[in-house]
Amino acid sequence: MIKVEGLTKRYGDVTAIEDLSFQVQKGEIVGFLGPNGAGKTTTMRIITGFLPSTDGTVTVSGHDIFQKPMEVKKRIGYLPEHPPLYGDMTVTGYLKFVAKIKGVPRSARAEAIDRAVMRCGLKDARKTIIGKLSKGFRQRVGLAQAMIHDPEVLILDEPTIGLDPKQIIEIRELVKSLAGEQTIILSTHILPEVTMICQRCLIIDQGRIVADDSLEALTAQGSLESVFLKLTTEDVQ
Ligand SMILES: Nc1ncnc2c1ncn2[C@@H]1O[C@H](COP(=O)(O)OP(=O)(O)O)[C@@H](O)[C@H]1O
Ligand SMILES: [Mg+2]
Repeated sequence: MIKVEGLTKRYGDVTAIEDLSFQVQKGEIVGFLGPNGAGKTTTMRIITGFLPSTDGTVTVSGHDIFQKPMEVKKRIGYLPEHPPLYGDMTVTGYLKFVAKIKGVPRSARAEAIDRAVMRCGLKDARKTIIGKLSKGFRQRVGLAQAMIHDPEVLILDEPTIGLDPKQIIEIRELVKSLAGEQTIILSTHILPEVTMICQRCLIIDQGRIVADDSLEALTAQGSLESVFLKLTTEDVQ
């Protein structure tokens, strides 16, 4: 479904990612785990067509992101680190706007909005102004905009960052509930997030993939534990 080959990105002298290769199969929920600065956001921005790579290729359902960006964007929903929400719009108004710019046909928009609202637990917030929502609910709106065009793939960049513990649990449950219907790549620097939500995990460190396996195998190898130690040491510093 997603095939990344030899992906490299340099920002001037800084090599953010180097020679990344991995594949994601349909229906998988893959964790993209790595410390801050590892290159997670850079990778996700390239896969979603928001940033050109320096080298390497990405294909989604056989379509090359650089040659057929529109074909890929149709199939991908993206929740960036800082979703572009408009604080003065209502939830429904904003989703209507996003559906329109993503090319959902006018006749299908109402249904698309209903579906996203239901799946993201926003039923009672439909008419609320986004600026008045809690952070957790704003993140639900971010998820709803990512899935408004019913994409096959969802790319979620640190979806629980900045939320309080209760909201974190709710968003994790929500992402988990999407399993099976969508192929998901979820980036995080929080190990328990991966163990709670994902079946498989790619570990990225200093722009390189250092592990790619099922959670079971990574746990057995002790790889997750060593990442955890590294993350906690860095968090303390
Ligand atoms: N626009 C940019 N210009 C220069 N360096 C950048 C830019 N964006 C990211 N970087 C660098 O690339 C590396 C990877 O960053 P990023 O992809 O944001 O990592 P992560 O999301 O894992 O925290 C970091 O060293 C970061 O400082
Ligand atoms: Mg990031």
